[in-house]
Amino acid sequence: MCGIVGYIGNQKAHPILIKGLLNLEYRGYDSAGIAVIDNGNICVKKDKGRVENLLNIEGINDLKGTIGIAHTRWATHGKPSKENSHPHSDNSKNFAVVHNGIIENYNELREFLKNKGYNFISQTDTEIIPNLIHYYYSQNPKTNTEIDFLKAVKSAVDDLKGSYAIQVICKDYPDEIIVVRKDSPLVIGKGNGENFIASDIPAVLSYTKDFYLLDDNEYGVIYRNVVHFFDSSLLEHNKAIKTIDWDSSSAEKCGFEDYMLKEIYEQPTAIRETVSSYLRIEEKCNFESLNFTKEYLSKIDKIYIIACGTAMHAGLVGKSAIEKLCRIPVTVDIASEFRYRDPIVDSNTLCIFISQSGETADTIAALKLSKSFGAKTLAISNVIGSSITREADYTIYTHAGPEIAVASTKAYTSQVVLMNILAIYFAEILEKSNKNDLDNLKREIFDLPSKIEKTLDDSEEIKDFAKKVYTQKDMFFIGRGMDYNTSLEGSLKLKEISYIHSEAYPAGELKHGPIALIENGVTVIGVLTDEHLTQKSISNLQEVITRGARTLVITNQVLTNINFDYVINIPCTNPLLSSIIAIVPLQLFSYYISKFKGLDVDKPRNLAKSVTVE
Ligand code: M6R
Repeated sequence: MCGIVGYIGNQKAHPILIKGLLNLEYRGYDSAGIAVIDNGNICVKKDKGRVENLLNIEGINDLKGTIGIAHTRWATHGKPSKENSHPHSDNSKNFAVVHNGIIENYNELREFLKNKGYNFISQTDTEIIPNLIHYYYSQNPKTNTEIDFLKAVKSAVDDLKGSYAIQVICKDYPDEIIVVRKDSPLVIGKGNGENFIASDIPAVLSYTKDFYLLDDNEYGVIYRNVVHFFDSSLLEHNKAIKTIDWDSSSAEKCGFEDYMLKEIYEQPTAIRETVSSYLRIEEKCNFESLNFTKEYLSKIDKIYIIACGTAMHAGLVGKSAIEKLCRIPVTVDIASEFRYRDPIVDSNTLCIFISQSGETADTIAALKLSKSFGAKTLAISNVIGSSITREADYTIYTHAGPEIAVASTKAYTSQVVLMNILAIYFAEILEKSNKNDLDNLKREIFDLPSKIEKTLDDSEEIKDFAKKVYTQKDMFFIGRGMDYNTSLEGSLKLKEISYIHSEAYPAGELKHGPIALIENGVTVIGVLTDEHLTQKSISNLQEVITRGARTLVITNQVLTNINFDYVINIPCTNPLLSSIIAIVPLQLFSYYISKFKGLDVDKPRNLAKSVTVE
């Protein structure tokens, strides 16, 4: 999705803006652009294609301006083209604007402005914003008095319906940038005599670790030495700074060929960090930000876990853990479905939202809806201060560090481990599970990082199998129970980065239809980690072998008399945790297939890291 960067200071703005945009490439985009106030004029340089292309645009290296805004666009209204790229200007070239989000009433506003004599060059919804600001700036139609930059921006924003994070510069105000947001993230990084603006913290993490996290409907007026904050009525207020503990090298590749590979290998550390924040063997689990009591949890008659994509798959594991340890019924729902299904939610429902980015539009909307029904809401996110954490009643964090690759890996395993710890926390409060069982599960959790390290040692075997099958068109993943959850996530990884069609099925379901698709040479991947279900899944794998399938099996069981083409052995663990280990070979499998196909692993086509539109 679109990315925003801004700079005001004493250095030349354009190299900082371009570096910031390069740091945001992982979000997915089709065009890029910058606007700098240079010699009293707003200079816009933009085009479709890669951020690097900006460096070849005539005159860009001559820019000396120290204030500017920048954007990477992921097309929604209008195809990728120079005209549709941001920044957009008003007709008089007095303002330049970059915008993330969608303006729902842009047609109406465009007609209004056209009737006032404004012309439009692009097909975007964004282009109405600078023109609307100009309209209010040039005359205040209500009082016929002149209004200043901030008031003009506010008057324009008051007319907008939809979601937005907006940055505006004005030729007449060469020492300030105005920002405002609603349902789309924006942060301001505080420097020394300079300030940075970004849609995502990693964009400017190499300059500062101190951030102001802009709230919905809040305005920031950013100067070199100071930032002023205003509410939606333009009443000024103070705002606290948050210091982010991410290391700037954690947002770099550090010798790995791709971010995805680096993040796969970071999983032992990500899990160690997450576990050590909340889990002690001899003590009860402790979440400082939660104050759930036995009385409250006993009243809860159901739990919803709501998320999208990989985070939803982590939710499926969370459901098994909570139901097993606490005996509370849990429903897992996809956020975009939940919000429109008229869900049965009331004050006796606990709603848990999982989101790596904390900015997923559907998940945030589902959270707001649950709150409106009186449910308590708990967010699980990887990004401190992200939008979802500011909406929820409670928040707990995974400590995976920044995840840059579009395909989620370390966030998934950290979410799964955190869901297990949360289930233990509930069970300890409710006194539902046997203490020995909980202690054993805790020990298994502490052992996970070394078991993942052992699994990563077998990457060559996976690479070997990937080489044999990377030209295939279709693949199937099967498993039962927890292994089905792992199969769903393995299949999503493969689709996303290798563009191979794949499906995940509960192994016992194949014969009810999908087995018709099995023919000579089709690859079927079986996940077998539950000793009670292994023999049953083996029978299902035999059914596909009989029909000519090539098989890869990921297992922690000792298999005898087998006729699978490849077997990857992984360490044993508690079944509630098995997905954390079994997913690792599947992540590597997708990674190597993508590499053999020569694809862009970190930035797969059509996808974005944070999905901030519905
Ligand atoms: O940031 P979120 O966890 O809310 O993102 C949810 C999904 O968009 C995300 O998990 C997506 O499915 C990933 N690309 C999967 O690898």
